[in-house]
Amino acid sequence: MATNRTFTMLKPDSLEKGNTGAILEKINAAGFKIVAMKQTQMSQVDAEAFYAVHNERPFFGELVEYMTRGPIIAAILEKENAVEDFRTLIGATNPEEAAEGTIRKLYAASIGENAVHGSDSDENAAIEGAFHFSGRDIF
Ligand code: CMP
Repeated sequence: MATNRTFTMLKPDSLEKGNTGAILEKINAAGFKIVAMKQTQMSQVDAEAFYAVHNERPFFGELVEYMTRGPIIAAILEKENAVEDFRTLIGATNPEEAAEGTIRKLYAASIGENAVHGSDSDENAAIEGAFHFSGRDIF
């Protein structure tokens, strides 16, 4: 089951710019089933924990500030080969390097404010999904 799921967040810039409908449409059109979804806002403690793997990076403070400055949409997505296919759909972390037609190419402003998150492995998809959702929220 875990190998068919990934986790995403539409980040604060996507909500601020009114891009969430268009992004969710692309996610649906690419064949992902939304099995859990909510709008929420991460606290500083939440963001520091979620991104703990990056806490030694020079951009960590900026990342936490960005991810907590407004609401996000968190979702668990299901599809064959979900992690890899979703990373293809969103494109490279840096929108300047993202392929044409990808979500980050279309909607991300910069490497820091990059519109969406996508898990980088099946293991992290499970951890990140469980960070935001309990079993009873997943359908
Ligand atoms: P995400 O894929 O959610 O995982 C880590 C996040 O850190 C990344 O998206 C960006 O939002 C941010 N990030 C990664 N690299 C940089 C960077 N060089 N400068 C600023 N922010 C970055």
